Amino acid sequence: MNKQSLVKLNHIFPEKTGINKIGNLEIGGFDLSELVSEYGSPLYIYDEKTIRNCARSFLNEFKSKYNNMHVSYSSKAFINPALVKILNEENLGIDVVSGGELEVLIRSEFPMEKTNFHGNNKSEHELNKAVKNNIGLITIDSFYELDILDEICKKNKTSQNITLRLSPSVDPHTHELTSTGILDTKFGFSIETGAAKKALNVASSKNNLNLKGVHFHLGSPIFELKPYSEAINYVFKFLEKNYPKNNKLEIFNVGGGFAVSYNQDDPTVDINLYANTICEAVNNNITNLGIDPPELVIEPGRAIVARSGVAIYTVGGIKNIPNLRTYVSVDGGMADNIRPALYGSKYTALSVNKAGMKHDKLVTIAGKYCETGDKLVENVLLPNPEPKDLIAIPASGAYNSSMSSNYNVSLRPAILLISEDKIKIIRRRETYDDVLITSEI
Ligand SMILES: Cc1ncc(COP(=O)(O)O)c(C=O)c1O
Repeated sequence: MNKQSLVKLNHIFPEKTGINKIGNLEIGGFDLSELVSEYGSPLYIYDEKTIRNCARSFLNEFKSKYNNMHVSYSSKAFINPALVKILNEENLGIDVVSGGELEVLIRSEFPMEKTNFHGNNKSEHELNKAVKNNIGLITIDSFYELDILDEICKKNKTSQNITLRLSPSVDPHTHELTSTGILDTKFGFSIETGAAKKALNVASSKNNLNLKGVHFHLGSPIFELKPYSEAINYVFKFLEKNYPKNNKLEIFNVGGGFAVSYNQDDPTVDINLYANTICEAVNNNITNLGIDPPELVIEPGRAIVARSGVAIYTVGGIKNIPNLRTYVSVDGGMADNIRPALYGSKYTALSVNKAGMKHDKLVTIAGKYCETGDKLVENVLLPNPEPKDLIAIPASGAYNSSMSSNYNVSLRPAILLISEDKIKIIRRRETYDDVLITSEI
């Protein structure tokens, strides 16, 4: 690697990533190897500026084309009180899918009116908690949920704004495990089977629920633009015939799934292109139908936080199998990043302490967990890896720490935030006491 090669990867790393005078990788002027010396390894580092700029790009690009719009960050990608505060300052809403994510927002004093509760099987307890905390919106996923939420509202002598999650049978051409808008999915009311039509009528008839509109989410990550316009046209066509006459369509939520680059050769998808496609399709449909523009909602998760986060690991054992492969084992792996093992997700890597040296040795970066499939990056070039070297994996900000586990009774890494010219520990490294606190010993 040299400075020129890093330029090619700049769109994958946080803004202001570079190689410093002594040849180490740095972000915002912070030498990553010094951060590891101070805070330990593995280490996750987020850059606040990159998060803010991603959030602003979504808001600006969409708002310039469709004024009545709202960005609701999908917190499953990564949630932390520090992030909640940043996104609130950037005027984003947040959607949650569990009582736990909701709890983070409550404790972070995030405005409940800007919160939307998703999920295909929310419990009564979770719904009750959401209602009691005056949540702005609940997106309903099943007939059972319509019934129990109506009952909960009745008991609490209140009413609740809701949208319905529809499944439009549109294939977004992404990994089958992350496709959510096709017919064969656990999520939402299918338009194709007639369930969506029935759900709209049931929702409209509930005394304690206010039907405000509809939602769909096709999957993630979606590199193509056409699935969005196809789904929007199809859903509007369905609504024209089936949306209850006594309810106004106030919210039209097209979900998230906006792709990011994980590797140098990944197609880059410009937010502007998503905004053009989505806003044009919505604008055309509302003009044709002659209705007031509903609030257009998008739910980016990955695209707000992936680029801002970098994972740093320390190299341990190195195993060479002549003419086949060299395994470079690091001190993290599938417990802090399950995505390669779960979805075959592809990442790239860069040396931290030899960042300025030529990356010319083909290796596979293996995790330390007791699974053959625990490989973080297959076939990547590194500069003659040796034990104690540090490796950075970019685009690690989304679905890494939020999907992390204590597999092999491992400890979750610390997370740092580069905030202007300061380092903040936004999650300390776990200890064995943290992990064992729920067990009787
Ligand atoms: C309903 C819903 N909205 C938004 C998202 C966010 O997707 P992404 O992080 O790819 O933008 C998801 C992801 O699973 C989702 O299920």
